Amino acid sequence: MQNELQLFTEGLNPRLQVKGTSRLSGEVKISGAKNSALVLMTASLLTEGKVRLNNVPELTDIKGMANILLSMGVELKTGNGSVELQSDNLHYFEPSYELVNCLRASFFCIGPLLGRLGKARIPLPGGCRIGARPVSEHIRGLKALGAVVSVEHGVVTASVPGIDRRLKGASVVLDCPSVGATETVLMAAVLAEGRTIIENAAQEPEVQDLANMLNLMGASVRGAGGPTITIDGVPHLHGCDYTVIPDRIEAGTFLLAAAITRSSLRVAPVIPEHLSAVLQKLRDAGCNFEIDKEGITIIPGEIKGVDITTQPFPGFPTDLQAPFMAFLATAKGTSVVTEKIYENRMQHVAELQRMGAAIRLQGNTAVIEGVPQLSAAPVTGGDLRAAAAMVLASLSARGISHVEGLNHLDRGYECIEAKLNSVGAQIFRHSDKHSLA
Ligand code: UD1
Repeated sequence: MQNELQLFTEGLNPRLQVKGTSRLSGEVKISGAKNSALVLMTASLLTEGKVRLNNVPELTDIKGMANILLSMGVELKTGNGSVELQSDNLHYFEPSYELVNCLRASFFCIGPLLGRLGKARIPLPGGCRIGARPVSEHIRGLKALGAVVSVEHGVVTASVPGIDRRLKGASVVLDCPSVGATETVLMAAVLAEGRTIIENAAQEPEVQDLANMLNLMGASVRGAGGPTITIDGVPHLHGCDYTVIPDRIEAGTFLLAAAITRSSLRVAPVIPEHLSAVLQKLRDAGCNFEIDKEGITIIPGEIKGVDITTQPFPGFPTDLQAPFMAFLATAKGTSVVTEKIYENRMQHVAELQRMGAAIRLQGNTAVIEGVPQLSAAPVTGGDLRAAAAMVLASLSARGISHVEGLNHLDRGYECIEAKLNSVGAQIFRHSDKHSLA
């Protein structure tokens, strides 16, 4: 496989070469949740104690967050899927624009910094390819807790007035159930004086994971996972040893890899309730499942089109919209996919069309007429989940596809080609164009 593929690729950009139409079988191990691990790393700023996180995926986003925390004086050790963080010597509260710009989630440092130090200066993360992604709700929530916040020259400066520099509990009603804003306010509130109630909170499992870890650190958080979260502030938090939940988006991506290749595959560990909306849509499309506490086995049947609309949790996740669309491109009949979370998350449509998918785009709605077979093509994933969609489409396409956009893919998928190859895929990575000389 390697030699056969290398013939086609000398001197080209980093890419995956995917030989399509292989059936998959066996079990894929699911890594820890990227979006949980990132926010849990920032939560370590809330204590002088040592925080040990287990089941942390090895991803470029995690390295990016580690660099930001290191730049603020956090001591950090990694190894065997764990990260140890100690912030007893936190001396800097202004990560650089270069570091923040690599990783939107770095903005989430603002809540713990304000809670712990009473001050923070974080460059605005800006928009990204999928949408504008404002942080106005984060800022509104912090102001409600008594922070003075200004945005000037692209930098958010926040401080807590008073001698003790301690935030004050308050009622925060979010305009939209933003995951990041909920996490920011939650982390700021755990060390505030008095009670905070967050209404219209995001209900995503990663918010629950954060609340669970904060409680283990000595916080008092109730209701996370529902629309109302109540936090009774405490003066100090201590260190902890915590294991990150499995990545529901990675698990969903592998279930879709099985579905698009009409293969039976087991994914584990997973928390099946985190994937309810996705499993329901896969069922509607003709897949069956065997589900136990640790894992899910998918058994695809006759596949037909379904309609999906992305929603906040527990609705269908936007992060699986592009991978699901790749699957629907091969389903019998018509599907309608509507993106409701981000204004510009349809860039994968043009790439799927290059592989023979029959998709009409009307704003943020895609109408897909399933085709019996996609055909291999050189394609690029313009964002993390679009890149995953390209890998899935390539797995089912006839011929050898070249998937670029690995800088995006590697942000969120740990060893994706090794995992897929271990269950029967044929994927080869050319990671450096000079290495082939
Ligand atoms: C998190 C996830 C991301 C996922 C998203 C939605 C992390 C690191 N990333 O991103 O993978 O796609 O949830 O499930 O956890 N919004 C506002 N004002 C704000 C904040 C958000 O209007 O102040 C809007 C956004 O523009 C977007 C929507 O709310 O349209 C959802 O954003 P949000 O839930 O905040 O996403 P993130 O936390 O950035």
